[in-house]
Amino acid sequence: MTINEIIINLADELVGNETARLEVKMLIKHILNIDEINLVLKYNDKMDEESYEKLIGLHKRLKDGEPVQYIINKKEFMGLGFYVDENVLIPRADTEVLVERILEDEKNDNKVLDMCSGSGCVGISLKKYNSQLEVTCADISDKAIKIGKSNSVSNEVDVKFIESDLFINIDEKFDIIVSNPPYIKYSEYIELENKVLDHEPKLALYADENGLYFYNEISKQAKEYLNEGGRLYFEIGYNQAEEVKNIMKKNSFYNIIVERDLKGKDRVIYGTLK
Ligand SMILES: C[S@@+](CC[C@H](N)C(=O)[O-])C[C@H]1O[C@@H](n2cnc3c(N)ncnc32)[C@H](O)[C@@H]1O
Repeated sequence: MTINEIIINLADELVGNETARLEVKMLIKHILNIDEINLVLKYNDKMDEESYEKLIGLHKRLKDGEPVQYIINKKEFMGLGFYVDENVLIPRADTEVLVERILEDEKNDNKVLDMCSGSGCVGISLKKYNSQLEVTCADISDKAIKIGKSNSVSNEVDVKFIESDLFINIDEKFDIIVSNPPYIKYSEYIELENKVLDHEPKLALYADENGLYFYNEISKQAKEYLNEGGRLYFEIGYNQAEEVKNIMKKNSFYNIIVERDLKGKDRVIYGTLK
């Protein structure tokens, strides 16, 4: 069988999955260690037996519902490559809006705290595209911290990582705090697709207080960890803008702005400390 025939056959076995072809191609590129152009150039070639067997093994995991990014241990975010496994959330394209907003706003050599950093995708991208920023990432999960550190090395940026339950181990002040915290309430969490529910860490997704626990806590505590005039940026769920705005107002933030993602849904909220 040629590589093109293999793609067609294996994608067919993933019926109902719109991205099947794309995902099978991702597996093949990963196994053969080639990019998209070189894959296309190999469409009419045969695949060697060892690679094919490996592919069948990975394809089985795909059929069983594992996200392709965990199978190949890679996700692209802001044009950068991030190692991911089941200890960290797979960075979402929507989160790029958060990073882009801060990059547009911040032209100075400000200190930034990425709270709830997971793979480190937010903090590392900020540092990569604005080397003047001094970036610290914090996460409660030691495994996420380890992954974040290795992602900072592979992306060649100098970012500090601190294992911390929110601000417990943070002992300095920042000009900007950014966070994409867990924000899914219980009733929505249990309705998530199996791919997410069975594989992505609950610690990264679910939040008490109707999904608002982290917005409440971070807004309340951020005052102590922000310099005067400092800013707080959050990613939010599509239906949380009003509630998070009120939380931020209650905690002395003003000039609060909500921004939408590429699908037109509320995704980012930010404000300045009085
Ligand atoms: C939605 S994920 C975001 C990860 C990453 N920033 C991103 O955008 O892909 C939330 C992260 O919050 C972390 N987390 C959960 N509870 C926490 C806590 N109490 N303190 C610090 N981090 C926490 C999780 O380990 C997870 O990595």
